[in-house]
Amino acid sequence: MWLVVERARGSKVYTRDGREYLDSMSGICVANIGHSHPEVVAAVQRQAAEYLHVMVYGEYVLPVQVELAARLARLAPEPLDTIYFTNSGTEANEGALKLAKKWTGRRRLVAFEGSFHGDSHGSLSVTGREVYRRPFQPLLPEVEFLPFDDVAALERIDESAAAVITEPIQGEGGVRVPGDEFLPALRRPCTEVGALLIFDEVQTGFGRTGAMFALEHWGVVPDILVLAKALGAGLPLGAFIAAAAVMRAFSVDPPLSHVTTFGGNPVCCAAALAGLEVLGREALPRRAASIGEALRAALREMGERIGGVVDVRGKGLHMGLELESPALTERFVRAAFERGLILGWTLHTRQVVRIAPPLNLSEAEMQAGLEIMAAALVEARAGRREEG
Ligand SMILES: Cc1ncc(COP(=O)(O)O)c(C=O)c1O
Repeated sequence: MWLVVERARGSKVYTRDGREYLDSMSGICVANIGHSHPEVVAAVQRQAAEYLHVMVYGEYVLPVQVELAARLARLAPEPLDTIYFTNSGTEANEGALKLAKKWTGRRRLVAFEGSFHGDSHGSLSVTGREVYRRPFQPLLPEVEFLPFDDVAALERIDESAAAVITEPIQGEGGVRVPGDEFLPALRRPCTEVGALLIFDEVQTGFGRTGAMFALEHWGVVPDILVLAKALGAGLPLGAFIAAAAVMRAFSVDPPLSHVTTFGGNPVCCAAALAGLEVLGREALPRRAASIGEALRAALREMGERIGGVVDVRGKGLHMGLELESPALTERFVRAAFERGLILGWTLHTRQVVRIAPPLNLSEAEMQAGLEIMAAALVEARAGRREEG
């Protein structure tokens, strides 16, 4: 099941042997404005013709990077106004964890079971799935995992914690949306004991959940906001954002506490600026909210009609379709693929199908996707009967 990619545009991926696929993964929440948006391509070409890498820090000022930082500072909730650019989500989490340690002078980190924060030693240390951590031990010491969406467990957050890191909605954990009280309840002990609250919005950012950032659904402001994936509109770019006073902890003792050669690369910043322009102009977060609602209702109806569906959940176009078993999920994803729809399961929860199309997919594309999923579900369930 290989795709030799020739071209990708909007919600479609085209292969060299002439096949056409509707993309309901968006490269895992990257192509929020669709693949190879013409405005992004033009911005990349313009910037590439001016300069590529020069220096991203020190005495060098790159106007395109400054403009993007200013724009992100306007989008992020107060007091988060200082941006540190990285090349990926993993690196942004690394920076956020280091910043929390530096600011608080503490070492202990609190994270959640079922989380995913990346695969470097630091971000893997706070990723809540033992099977991925075990082969790489020892990882960071003093990391405690609490159950996600369990308010009672939050009493374990105390003065020894430098940071508490969570995704507002767990992605790889199976698109788990916490109850209304969880994130506000998480903010309280962090404020009381002086631990920095880190929201990893690498998957949920930039309109995916029906708001610019998922934190808006709960009105909870973290101390550090981590972004990547859709930020670069198809180019590699990550960021973590904190209040200026907190970020300043990186400029003393030693002065260059955290540096990166490429983070905030001008071509990636140009792509990001063009992407944000499209996202805002076309009000795509709002569109994700309404189209997501309609899609969830249609998927629930499909489940009732055909069977095999345990749950349909998510916010906006960040959606999880939970089927009865990992085997059924695998047959379903394969059957959809054979009919021209790209789907995938979540890393930690293989019976959950991730549904995350570009936020500007058309009504006709949504209907086509639904028809394919219905046919794939019928076939996948028939496969079970044959196997049985
Ligand atoms: C929530 C979350 N955080 C961090 C990462 C790591 O980001 P990257 O792959 O850009 O390093 C991912 C990647 O899937 C993610 O889903």
